[in-house]
Amino acid sequence: AVDDRIAAIAESIRIIPDFPKPGIMFQDITTLLLDPKAFKDTIDLFVERYKDKNISVVAGVEARGFIFGPPIALAIGAKFVPMRKPNKLPGEVISEEYTLEYGTDKIEMHVGAVQAGERALVIDDLIATGGTLCAAMNLLERVGVDVVECACVIELAELKGRERLRGKPLFVLVSST
Ligand code: PRP
Repeated sequence: AVDDRIAAIAESIRIIPDFPKPGIMFQDITTLLLDPKAFKDTIDLFVERYKDKNISVVAGVEARGFIFGPPIALAIGAKFVPMRKPNKLPGEVISEEYTLEYGTDKIEMHVGAVQAGERALVIDDLIATGGTLCAAMNLLERVGVDVVECACVIELAELKGRERLRGKPLFVLVSST
């Protein structure tokens, strides 16, 4: 059953207190990756949801969207597009800045990776404030792509990142406080 799979996925995620700085409870998905059943169930749950939705683009956010995105893309017959931290992509890029607690950050996508009118899923491991996913969504929408949904393994619900997504649906497997 779906619920059993989700419970096992939730249990496979390790929480590391005070990483990367004091007060942060880091949700470590590397332990999920060590459990082949939990890893496969994670991918399968996304594939079951997105396989018949006419999605031609899976956009994964650096770094852990690069782990979950590609197997989903392969399974649903979509292309995988990496959304990277600044100055990593070698070709021409468009970039989108977003605000952090202190300062700003930026993500970039290759020009020409996607075409106007394509349908995309945006994937990352975790949504906290929602700034990263919102920026990824903005990049795609700026070039005329229809973002069908954003998806994450984990949502830190207390941070209300969902509200930053301008009403775009967000699908998560595990909601954590
Ligand atoms: C984490 C996470 C998301 C982002 C979510 O990445 O993997 O990409 O933060 O935060 P937000 O919803 O507040 O924008 P991190 O900053 O740890 O960078 P990394 O993936 O390069 O390790």
